[in-house]
Amino acid sequence: MRALPAHGRDRASLMAELEAAKAGDVSWLDARMAVYFYHLDEEVTRVAQDAYLAYWTENAMGTRAFPSVKRLEEEVVGMGLSLLQAPRDAAGTFTSGGSESIFLAVKAARDRAREEKGIARGNIVLPRSAHPTFDRAAHYLGLEVRRVPGRRNDRRADVDAMAARVDAETVLLVGSAPCYPFGVFDPIADIAALAAARGIWMHVDACVGGFLAPFVRRLGRPVPEFDFAVPGVTSISADLHKHGYTAKGASLLLLRDAALLRHQHFSADVWERGPYMQPTTQGSRPAGAVASAWAVMNFLGEEGYMRWAGLLMETTDRFAAGIAAIPGLAVLEPHELCILVYRAEDPALDIGAVAEAMGRRGWLVGRQAEPDGVHLHLNPQHAVAVDGYLADLRESVAEARASGATASTPAGRTY
Ligand SMILES: Cc1ncc(COP(=O)(O)O)c(C=O)c1O
Repeated sequence: MRALPAHGRDRASLMAELEAAKAGDVSWLDARMAVYFYHLDEEVTRVAQDAYLAYWTENAMGTRAFPSVKRLEEEVVGMGLSLLQAPRDAAGTFTSGGSESIFLAVKAARDRAREEKGIARGNIVLPRSAHPTFDRAAHYLGLEVRRVPGRRNDRRADVDAMAARVDAETVLLVGSAPCYPFGVFDPIADIAALAAARGIWMHVDACVGGFLAPFVRRLGRPVPEFDFAVPGVTSISADLHKHGYTAKGASLLLLRDAALLRHQHFSADVWERGPYMQPTTQGSRPAGAVASAWAVMNFLGEEGYMRWAGLLMETTDRFAAGIAAIPGLAVLEPHELCILVYRAEDPALDIGAVAEAMGRRGWLVGRQAEPDGVHLHLNPQHAVAVDGYLADLRESVAEARASGATASTPAGRTY
């Protein structure tokens, strides 16, 4: 175990060591992975970084001390609400990421059901393809989770099957826009109608799609309805640090009605220092993440987001067509936006062996568990990688075929 050094070191040698430490990491700049990172170009990154550093010391918890942070946060939330067609009475909160936005939605739904319906335990009903962070939230909050397998033909939520699992104790219904495993939108309008008919909170997880789908739609591509224009949608999570392309630690939880905020908030008057109230699970919060989001959104504007969305969708099309053209591989259909899964349709070809051959060629491969396949979540930076990826994939398929190898690790072991 390394101990704190007795004496400090100079800044230049520390920076050099940090830079050198990255030598063994997978290169996101060359888009050698389709997970974990988002990048547009150096200029946007500089805007995000400069804005973050401009608010390095400020604390977003301290709204009395830093009214400027409060104003930036309100403007970021306002841009999110208008993009997702929220009504006038809507409200939103800047959070640290998708997981926190979702946690707060589950908590708010639970607390409203407790107050209005006297529900003691409570359960949540969601498609099998929804993000595991709903289970994490339910675990923390003492709720039962009812996951419902999706439809066989298109892997979207099976709303009839979800309805069959709803009972008097159900506090929340969930749909994704799109879901992470397959990149398809659930039938949000149908889930929301079910929720409205039963007086249940309905959350749309648009962590991936929230800051992408509206621009893809404006480009003229078909995008299913998923936002507040759909009656019965109570809340939406939309991540700024995904396709908003802002610094990490940034997401929005948006509520249709500001009156619901009190179910999300936590307050206590329990210590000598007086009352304490927080809208999120955090106390001190980095104002840099807020400033970064504000700056990137204003730097890009609608036109910028549309331009990058266009490149991303063209890049996704190139990946999908290139993969589908390789004999033995098939891309799962349908897929929307920028998530793709491909698998081997030839029984003699082991997709895990293909994935491992890609790994030997320097690609960090995300292996899908069901069906056994390869998962790609693309962003515009992948435009630099399409040709190299497809060339290596052709070689990897040939190698796996020639050797007849099977994967050394089971499907889905690598996230
Ligand atoms: C659909 C969806 N929801 C929620 C999350 C969780 O977001 P975060 O990693 O920002 O907590 C993710 C992350 O990939 C996601 O894809």
